[in-house]
Amino acid sequence: MHIAIIGTGAREHAIAWKLSLDPTVQLFNFGPTHNPGIAGLCQAVGIGDVTDVTAVLQWCQEQKIDIAWIGPEAPLAAGVVNALEAFGIACIGPTQQMARLESSKSFTRELLDKYEIQASPSYRVFTSMDGVADYMWSLQDDVVIKPDGLTGGKGVRVMGAQLKTREDAMAYCSELFAEGAKRIVIEEKLVGQEFSLMSFSDGKHLVHMPAVQDHKRAYVGDAGPNTGGMGSYTDANHSLPFLNEHDVIFARQINEQTLYAIQEECGEEYKGIIYGGFIAVRGGVRLIEYNARFGDPEVMNMLSLLKTSLVDITKAIAERTLDQLHVEFAPLASVCKYVVPQGYPDKPVRGEPIDITQVDQAKVQLFYGAVDQTEGGLVLTGSRAVGLVATGTTIAEAEQVVEQEIKKITGPVFHREDIGTAALIDERITMLRNLRHA
Ligand SMILES: Nc1ncnc2c1ncn2[C@@H]1O[C@H](COP(=O)(O)OP(=O)(O)O)[C@@H](O)[C@H]1O
Ligand SMILES: [Mg+2]
Repeated sequence: MHIAIIGTGAREHAIAWKLSLDPTVQLFNFGPTHNPGIAGLCQAVGIGDVTDVTAVLQWCQEQKIDIAWIGPEAPLAAGVVNALEAFGIACIGPTQQMARLESSKSFTRELLDKYEIQASPSYRVFTSMDGVADYMWSLQDDVVIKPDGLTGGKGVRVMGAQLKTREDAMAYCSELFAEGAKRIVIEEKLVGQEFSLMSFSDGKHLVHMPAVQDHKRAYVGDAGPNTGGMGSYTDANHSLPFLNEHDVIFARQINEQTLYAIQEECGEEYKGIIYGGFIAVRGGVRLIEYNARFGDPEVMNMLSLLKTSLVDITKAIAERTLDQLHVEFAPLASVCKYVVPQGYPDKPVRGEPIDITQVDQAKVQLFYGAVDQTEGGLVLTGSRAVGLVATGTTIAEAEQVVEQEIKKITGPVFHREDIGTAALIDERITMLRNLRHA
């Protein structure tokens, strides 16, 4: 069996690594860069634009691909799955229509309303500045401005963070429409603790993964600019230290109801990953957004904990038999941290060498992101460079192992020392407890 992995980041390295543990399949990779970690696991590597539907299809046909894992959101939104499936290549990833769950924030909010899934904050969709001011001043709390489409994590602005006042928020809306935005979602700002819950879907059955928390801010203490995610952790009980069991059950139910809704709406089967981005608030849990693929870095936690063969899961998704597979995650905690170039995300150094050879790969799983292999060794290419994951009986234990190994990486890089530490987790527990018991 030939399995392709589309995309060349650390997420795709994690997928390729997990698939490679089953020697009965041959792996192939297509994407914009040459990822040395992925290339070492694959029979052939194609370099190209993953949103170029024709190029992806042609390459998959040349390599006689049976099943394609679509890693990132952009090719899903571009319709790569529609093209591959039309030529008999099974895909792990939804079609373009269903990927609107991620590629259109207004679509998802309206879908939840239509199917009476009550998990959204107050929101309204605008196609021009008409009514924006009235709505904004009608909301008691702070507001969040969301351009409708994919923005690589750079479009959403929150009052209290990137926006100071409602006037700032108005100005941002005007700017977005002036730049050609068709739709903008304005939402009430929720206060609480964010977490993610991802599920495998074969179109009929869902298998939920452990809850996980990502860290978007660049610097220690949740300071600095937003990034793609600096690291993530999970707990041994597959919940998170600040959540109660109702929170997790609720998030799972929302994923189930949303899966049903999107399939009903589109008349198609959703095969792949459904990723709910949630926030635990005073009164329960609310939905921030949906993604239509694995989260990066969260995928590194998930696949490090996954005990079931990812090849078996892949086949079961393609054949709609997920219910017949016992999917198991180790009852362990996990911590993932990224090393990123100095200056990341705004002005990252590029082309500088990074030395990872001292990392003990018996202790941590290492995934290559934005690095290139040159004659002189590995060099930084400007984004999140290398992800390290450890598992342990407690979060603290896993955190210590990652910290010990990540410090052995040399070069002009940094990472967040605080991810997974008791101090940061205690802050989150206290924050939510105060909110819920005030
Ligand atoms: N309604 C909201 N209330 C509070 N914070 C929000 C809200 N919506 C988004 N955010 C914040 O903005 C971040 C990015 O928003 P999100 O909808 O996840 O868009 P994207 O991931 O596409 O940038 C979230 O992780 C969260 O921190
Ligand atoms: Mg998000």
